[in-house]
Amino acid sequence: MGIDLKILITGANGQLGRELLDVFGRVAPGIATGVTHDDLDITDSDAVERFLGNGEYTHVVNCAAYTAVDRAEEEKHLCNNVNNDGVANIARNADTLNLRIIHISTDYVFDGNAFRPYNESAKPEPLSVYGTTKRKGETALLGLAPSSIIIRTGWLYSPHGRNFVKTMLAKGEKGEHLAVVDDQTGTPTYAADLAEAIATIILSGKWMPGIYNYSNEGTASWYDFAVATLEAAGLHEAAADVTPVHTADYPTAATRPAYAVLDKTKIKDTFGLKIPHWQDGLRRCIARLR
Ligand SMILES: NC(=O)c1ccc[n+]([C@@H]2O[C@H](COP(=O)([O-])OP(=O)(O)OC[C@H]3O[C@@H](n4cnc5c(N)ncnc54)[C@H](OP(=O)(O)O)[C@@H]3O)[C@@H](O)[C@H]2O)c1
Repeated sequence: MGIDLKILITGANGQLGRELLDVFGRVAPGIATGVTHDDLDITDSDAVERFLGNGEYTHVVNCAAYTAVDRAEEEKHLCNNVNNDGVANIARNADTLNLRIIHISTDYVFDGNAFRPYNESAKPEPLSVYGTTKRKGETALLGLAPSSIIIRTGWLYSPHGRNFVKTMLAKGEKGEHLAVVDDQTGTPTYAADLAEAIATIILSGKWMPGIYNYSNEGTASWYDFAVATLEAAGLHEAAADVTPVHTADYPTAATRPAYAVLDKTKIKDTFGLKIPHWQDGLRRCIARLR
């Protein structure tokens, strides 16, 4: 099955892009090619068409995104350009080239007023510019390339790039006192686990279009996540010193959903995935960092 596959990974220098290149390098060497922002700007429709137009690729995994959630409130246009128009630029090529697209979206398409995990048919009501543009990107993709797969995820971290785990470790190691919100609930997702899931889906040869949720198992507040990160790194004093605080006392430019837990039944049932608990993913990430 794998022989004819040729996968293009956009945003290849990001957290998920790098993990995908690692996974494919391990399980199916030679089938995946990564392009960074410098190699291919997805907002440049001509460049996207030139890149894809020769029909070399069977799949695109779009990991390119504008992900600065707070800055997006100021940079609305740029954020929309990447997360909405950029996605449409890729999607426009799908039909003629028979291209299969996996696109990554976010739990921030929801308003967080739920009390139980969001399934794929829950109504998106984004609270932020970032969430709004990601939702527009989903809609654009499903309109132009309805045979695509969208995977919504949340709270991504990895050994690469800037993320919550690395920030907590850097501050904990310096002995900085940490105050972290305990009234936003979601699930930390190790980018390597999401990358494994994406590789499993593509290599299964079973293409079932639609929206899917993926995060690690379990739930946590950002406070829980901070404490678990420091504990897993052996920074026990720093972990004991973290203060839980309320979102209302630490305003940010973007409003985030108070509850962003995803129901993963559909992706597990459809593709037979076993999803690790978030604390397990965290331990593996920290082992790589140390
Ligand atoms: N991070 C999270 O917590 C989180 C949560 C839920 C969903 N997601 C989604 O998961 C996906 C992967 O996220 P991630 O954490 O891996 O993001 P990331 O680390 O910020 O990587 C995104 C990559 O996209 C590139 N990029 C930005 N604009 C581009 C453009 N116009 N053309 C091509 N590349 C561009 C960036 O390059 P430069 O840095 O050089 O601009 C960066 O390498 C995204 O779709 C994101 O929305 C992320």
